[in-house]
Amino acid sequence: MENQKITVKDILAMKGRKKITMLTAYDYPTAALVDKAGIDMVLVGDSLANVVLGLKSTTEVGMQEMIHHSKAVTRAVTRAMVIGDMPFDSYQVNPDDCVKNARRFIDEAKCDGVKLEWFDRCLEVTEKIIKAGVPVVGHIGLTPQTADKLGGFKVQGKDAEAAKRLIEQAQGLAELGCFAITLECVPDKIAQMITDKINVPTIGIGAGKYTDGQVLVIHDAIGLFDRYTPKFVKKFINLSPMILEALQEYKKEVVEGTYPGPEHSFSIKEEELKKL
Ligand code: KIV
Repeated sequence: MENQKITVKDILAMKGRKKITMLTAYDYPTAALVDKAGIDMVLVGDSLANVVLGLKSTTEVGMQEMIHHSKAVTRAVTRAMVIGDMPFDSYQVNPDDCVKNARRFIDEAKCDGVKLEWFDRCLEVTEKIIKAGVPVVGHIGLTPQTADKLGGFKVQGKDAEAAKRLIEQAQGLAELGCFAITLECVPDKIAQMITDKINVPTIGIGAGKYTDGQVLVIHDAIGLFDRYTPKFVKKFINLSPMILEALQEYKKEVVEGTYPGPEHSFSIKEEELKKL
């Protein structure tokens, strides 16, 4: 049971019973570790742009990159649900292409669902994708693809009117059939209110502890991304200095001639050498 592939039904059943865990992954070895750790959902986030590709904005990645990385992740994962993050131009720039692009995550990349961020035509696009048989995770609050329109990378829903809008967005997405909703950078009490009002799980990032689950960008959680660290991030390990130390040791040993040693080298019999 523990090793069986997690389904939409399992995630829905966890609401109010067991916290849901989600992490991002973008490549085979990391996804394999996330799956081995027993994480319930792996998100191939468009944060790929920032933490892997060194780009400034998530809007700079497209379908080609997202499908490429999603394929690497699904090759590694056997248990967790894998969610492909729909890039900005796949549904916001060209809403008419949303179904075709969502299906590519399922049919080509073998993902189990997609995630898309709130925007002005979100309900219409989400409905089309769900009707095409693709499980959808909604994403409201701070939506990085349209952060400019939200006044930048700021906490959302801080006054009653803005919070009411978030509640309505969550209810609208849940009614359409989203099987989970990501709440990003929302006051904890508003996240709690949304969690209590809807019948599908909420997965928070910077939304406090009352949500049904939590998601983090893996590079933040393991200390592999230093460009900026949001307040909500906890580094569960700080890998960057450890990796740096190992690389410096490698350089030192090569330069000093202590690596490779005989235990890392291949030998040939003396008699064969003599023949030469
Ligand atoms: O792209 C991403 O990593 C995300 C998470 C921050 C939820 O959307």
